[in-house]
Amino acid sequence: MQEPLIYIDGEFYAKSSAKISVFDHGFLYGDGVFEGIRVYGGVVFKLREHVERLYRSAKAIRLEIPMTVDEMVDAVIKTVRVNGFRDAYIRLVVTRGVGDLGLDPRKCGKPSVIVIVEQLEPILGAQSRETGVKLIISSTRRDPVYATSHEVKSLNYLNSILAKLEAIAAGADDAVMLDSRGFVSEATGANIFVVRSGVLVTPPVTAGILPGITRAFVMELARRLGIPVEERDITPTELLTSDEVFLTGTGAEIVPVAMISGVKIGKIVPGPITSKIIGEFDRIKSDPSNGVKAL
Ligand SMILES: Cc1ncc(COP(=O)(O)O)c(C=O)c1O
Repeated sequence: MQEPLIYIDGEFYAKSSAKISVFDHGFLYGDGVFEGIRVYGGVVFKLREHVERLYRSAKAIRLEIPMTVDEMVDAVIKTVRVNGFRDAYIRLVVTRGVGDLGLDPRKCGKPSVIVIVEQLEPILGAQSRETGVKLIISSTRRDPVYATSHEVKSLNYLNSILAKLEAIAAGADDAVMLDSRGFVSEATGANIFVVRSGVLVTPPVTAGILPGITRAFVMELARRLGIPVEERDITPTELLTSDEVFLTGTGAEIVPVAMISGVKIGKIVPGPITSKIIGEFDRIKSDPSNGVKAL
């Protein structure tokens, strides 16, 4: 099988020879931003929304991307086309670029733009949507909004990695992270929703979450299905006593939660509202109106 082709700064390289400098500050300091995007049936889901979020993340860390939004959209489409994957995961990365060993970003010449396209199962396992996943509540809190906030999708994921390690050590699939105040924030790489008495509830951006594109789409789907939606703080006790809990993210997709820190969630997995939302998401995710047709 031919190796996937990876876009780096306007050129394509075979996966085994796609390399960047060890002096790139993305590597040395996690100084850069990224996006994860999925392709469903040849349609790049919410491509524009992802690229726009990438530019917002870059702006927040004062990183000037050397391409326009339209050029970035084209680079992603070109990379999907050259690889020919109709169902795939895209990793779009912009690094600060090559500098010296000091922190000073002014020493970095030009940001590097990288697009990787690969075939990828849902990150928490292909079975996860039927069986549900097991979570713990991590002792590592989500970084506060006045620090390396996850509102910015940066290359700096140590905060999440520490929580993931704790989940692995506990034999769980993933971790729920609380914010600096002790309210529910999100999972290590996905947003969280709970269902309480027929109402869908999700933490607000002020809880230090990444404002997920899947999260926004799920809220829109729920409203269309007549399910009331609230964005508000959720306490850990509310989380454990909810009727249904599920995670949303590009990598994870929509995943029901079966257990949190040893407490069984709801009566059946997936619960009725989770099932309805997964069904609707699957029905329309490859509709060209929800993205950009590449193949
Ligand atoms: C920390 C974090 N939260 C939430 C999400 C979900 O965001 P999206 O639905 O845009 O993929 C992600 C990425 O997938 C993430 O890394």
